[in-house]
Amino acid sequence: MSSIRVLLFVVSVTLVSGSVLMAADVAAGKEVFAKKCVSCHGAAGEGKDSIAKMMKVELKPLGSREVQSKSDADLQKVITDGVGKMKPVKDVDAKSADNVVAFLRTLAKK
Ligand code: HEC
Repeated sequence: MSSIRVLLFVVSVTLVSGSVLMAADVAAGKEVFAKKCVSCHGAAGEGKDSIAKMMKVELKPLGSREVQSKSDADLQKVITDGVGKMKPVKDVDAKSADNVVAFLRTLAKK
């Protein structure tokens, strides 16, 4: 291999692995969601009636336009700071919150 080829190879590997690391990870987000959110929001974010009744609150489907119209930053804030009757979710760092938001986007109603 000529040195220019080696250089191109190194650059492309760096770019590819870089973008993989940067992109939010939907699969990882789904895992966190299953552990930390499903108990109240249900597997598809539909919201559990029993929880809604118990907490005397309306659980909006997470795929609804109302929730989906929030920005990524707002949704992350809901996770880390809580909102209304939802308490902040423990042990979710910024990166995980980012991944969960990426997963939430997959719930959007089409
Ligand atoms: C203990 C139950 C519970 C858990 C666990 C929980 N939530 Fe919630 N969540 C709620 C309730 C209750 C509301 C409605 C709050 C209100 O309107 O007062 C809510 C609302 C929301 C909303 C809508 C916010 C809005 O302004 O309309 C989003 C988005 C959300 N939750 C995401 C999550 C995510 C993501 C997780 C997991 C990281 C999670 N929730 C875990 C109970 C929970």
